[in-house]
Amino acid sequence: MQNELKLIDYLQDRHSTPVAQIKGPGPSDEELDAILTCAARVPDHGKLAPWRFIVYRGEVCEQLGEAFLNIALADNPDLPDAAREAERVRFTRAPLVVGVVSTAAPHVKIPEWEQVLSAGAVCLNMLMAANAQGYVANWRSEWIAYDARALELLGVRPEEKVAGFIHIGSSDFPTPDRPRPPLAEIVSYAGHRPA
Ligand SMILES: Cc1cc2nc3c(=O)[nH]c(=O)nc-3n(C[C@H](O)[C@H](O)[C@H](O)COP(=O)(O)O)c2cc1C
Repeated sequence: MQNELKLIDYLQDRHSTPVAQIKGPGPSDEELDAILTCAARVPDHGKLAPWRFIVYRGEVCEQLGEAFLNIALADNPDLPDAAREAERVRFTRAPLVVGVVSTAAPHVKIPEWEQVLSAGAVCLNMLMAANAQGYVANWRSEWIAYDARALELLGVRPEEKVAGFIHIGSSDFPTPDRPRPPLAEIVSYAGHRPA
């Protein structure tokens, strides 16, 4: 009963922390395993597990930042200094980033759309699992999720899509919540005409 109350309290207040406010420490190997294990525990029609994870941390994040910068410069050689720096630190803002990759594909029985939805469920579950381990997190996509050159560097195959990059770390900065849609705007009851 007490656990139920805690869960409802958590859900009523759950929110992300902006990436700019995420610092170290990040999860240990055991904590990360626990986060990924919980994240993978989602509804998944047909038990296809149509998603996979790529963990980015340490030196590789710095190398990726330089590579993102090179791509950005190839597209725009006049990139201002601040934008250059934004590319360099894209994957080092938080102690680690987990790529949630959707491997959804046509299937005889399970609609591809449902496989995609399951990857979205993984992302939200990962945010919550990170919180459960005492960390903060943020679900981002950014241009790198849609650029074939960046995707290749990130280890995402051409037939796959990025559901999200989950940045995970710590923060002691209070995060203001953002407005949530009033129920009246998003709920209708079947059999009644919407107002
Ligand atoms: C699929 C997806 C991609 C997102 N990508 C970005 C992004 O690239 N940049 C950004 O500022 N926010 C992005 N967001 C929004 C952030 O996750 C935002 O912090 C979040 O919606 C806050 O929601 P919460 O407080 O309910 O967790 C994305 C959200 C989703 C669902």
